[in-house]
Amino acid sequence: QNDKGQQNGPGGANDERFAEDENEKTLTNRQGHPIRNNQNIRTVGNRGPSTLENYEFLEKISHFDRERIPERVVHARGAGAFGYFETYGKVGDEPVEKYTRAKVFSEAGKKTPVLVRFSTVIHGIGSPETARDPRGFAVKFYTEDGNWDLVGNNLKVFFIRDAVKFPDLVHAFKPDPVKNIQDGERIFDFISNTPEAMHMITFLFSPWGIPANYRQMQGSGVNTYRWVNKDGEAVLVKYHWEPLSQGMKNLTQEEANKIQAENFSHATQDLYEAIEEGNYPEWELQVQIMEEGEHPELDFDPLDDTKLWPEDQFPKLKVGKMVLDKNPENYHNDIEQAAFGTGVLVDGLDFSDDKMLQGRTFSYSDTQRYRVGANYLQLPVNAPRKHIATNQEGGQMSYRSDKPEGVSPHINYEPSTLNGLHETDQRGEYYKPYVEGYLTRESIDRKNDFKQAGETYRAFEDWEREDLINNLVNTLKPCDPRIQQKMVDMFTECDEDYGRRVAEGIKMGMAAGAGSMNMESSEEIMPTKGKLPKHG
Ligand code: HEM
Repeated sequence: QNDKGQQNGPGGANDERFAEDENEKTLTNRQGHPIRNNQNIRTVGNRGPSTLENYEFLEKISHFDRERIPERVVHARGAGAFGYFETYGKVGDEPVEKYTRAKVFSEAGKKTPVLVRFSTVIHGIGSPETARDPRGFAVKFYTEDGNWDLVGNNLKVFFIRDAVKFPDLVHAFKPDPVKNIQDGERIFDFISNTPEAMHMITFLFSPWGIPANYRQMQGSGVNTYRWVNKDGEAVLVKYHWEPLSQGMKNLTQEEANKIQAENFSHATQDLYEAIEEGNYPEWELQVQIMEEGEHPELDFDPLDDTKLWPEDQFPKLKVGKMVLDKNPENYHNDIEQAAFGTGVLVDGLDFSDDKMLQGRTFSYSDTQRYRVGANYLQLPVNAPRKHIATNQEGGQMSYRSDKPEGVSPHINYEPSTLNGLHETDQRGEYYKPYVEGYLTRESIDRKNDFKQAGETYRAFEDWEREDLINNLVNTLKPCDPRIQQKMVDMFTECDEDYGRRVAEGIKMGMAAGAGSMNMESSEEIMPTKGKLPKHG
C-alpha cells in the first residue's frame, strides 16, 4: 500500500507504472528496479570484499563517472534563463516588412519564447565570474519558423576580423600550455602583432571589460548580418541589446577583486536570484541598418567586426524587447547542453560576407556534434518548438525518428512517389547577390585599425581612462620590452595621450620595482613613430 492507502501505486489498481509497494517517491535505477539499499554495496560479510555483480552500484557509479560532458572550448563558464521576446512590429518608425519578412518581428505585441545564455570566455567551467573578459550573450528564439540564434557578446567589437586567427587569439588568452596559468606576456605578444585588436583591447582593459553582472550589461551581435524582405531585397544589419530598467554597470579592477575574494559565482547568483524574486531583467533589441553594398564613402568596411557603425549616420532603431522570467529547471539539461550557432537563421534573416561570421558558422555546429553529440538537436532545449520532419537517421543517442504521424517510417529519402516528406515552396524571393572576384588570401583594404580605438579612448570618462591605463600598465609591466614598445607605439597611433600615459606608467612601475624587467630597458619605452608591425 502507498501513502494514500491505494493498491498498486498512486493511480490505483490500474496504474501500471507502479509496482504494489511503490509510489512516486520510490527510488529506482534507470531499469525501473526499486532500490532496496542505497547505503551499502554488496559484500562478502559486512567488511568486504565486494563482488563484481553489484549491478546497482556499478550503474550508479559509472553514470556518475560520465556526469560531465566536454566543456565549451570557449565560453565554458555561464548561466542562463528562459523568457520571451516581444516585437514592436516596427523598425524605429518604419514597418518591419520594408526590411525583413522574418515573422519573429511582425505584428506588434507578438511574443516568441527565448533562451539566453551568458558567459565569460577564457577560463573553465568553475572559474570566477569577475574575470576581465568579454561576456557572451547568446539568445535562442524559438520562432514559428524554427530556431533563430543570435550569438553575441557584451562588447560591440571584436579582436580580429578573420576567422583563421581565432584559434591563435584564444590560445594566447588561455593559460600557458606548460604552466597552465594565464600570462599577460603571451596575450600582449599576440596583441602587439595584431593591430586590429586595439579597439577591443581599449574596451577590454577599461571597466567595460568587467560588467558588474550579467543583467546590467549590453549585448551585441558584433558581426554584420543581412535582412531580406519579401521582394528579395537585402540590407546590412547589426544587432544590439540595451538593458532596460536594470541599467548598466561596470566594475573597476579593485571592485572586482573585492567581489572575487568572497564569491566566485556572483553573476550566476545575481541572475538566478533576480528572476526568483520576480525582478525580471529586460533588454531592448535595437538594430543599425545600412544599405547593401561596399560603402566606399566610409573609412571602414561594413563587414569589419573591429568597427562600430557611427550612430549619427546609422541610428539605433528599436525593434522589440526581451524579458527573462524563468530560471532553468536543471542547469545541465537546459544550459550546459544548450547549443547556439551563427548559422541558425530563419526566413528573412541572412548572412553577410563578414569573414568572421562565415568561419564562426562552421565552428559552432562542428563543436556541438563533438561536445554534446550528433543528435544534439533532439534535446528539448535545442529542438525547435514547432513541426520538424527530417530524413536524418541514427547516430549516438538518437531516441526517436523525425517522421511525424501519417508519414511512412520506411521512406527516409526524398524525392519519393510513396508516402514520404516533400520540400515546400519558397516564401518570398531569394536574395541573390552576384559574386565575382579572384580567389585570394588577402585582408580587406580599409583596415583603419587605430582611429576608432582613439575615439573610444577619448569618449571614456576620466575614471574609465584612469582604470584603463592602470590595467594596461599592470599587465604590460612584466612583459618583454619589445612587446611593451610595440604596444606603446600602437596606443600612440590611436591617441598620443593614450600612448604617453601607458609609456609613463610602465616607466614608473619599473622605477618602483613593480615589474620583472630592469630599469635600463624600461627607460627606452617611449612612443616611437613609424615602427608599427606589418599585418594583412
Ligand atoms: C562559443 C567559436 C567568435 C560569441 C563558441 C564556441 C566555439 C566558438 C567553438 C563553443 C560553442 C559550443 O561549445 O557550444 C568561435 C569562432 C569565432 C568566434 C571560431 C571566430 C571566428 C565569436 C564572436 C562572438 C562569439 C565574434 C561574439 C559576437 C560566442 C558566444 C559563445 C561562443 C556567446 C557561447 C555560446 C553559449 O552560451 O553556448 N564560439 N567564436 N564568438 N561564442 Fe564564439
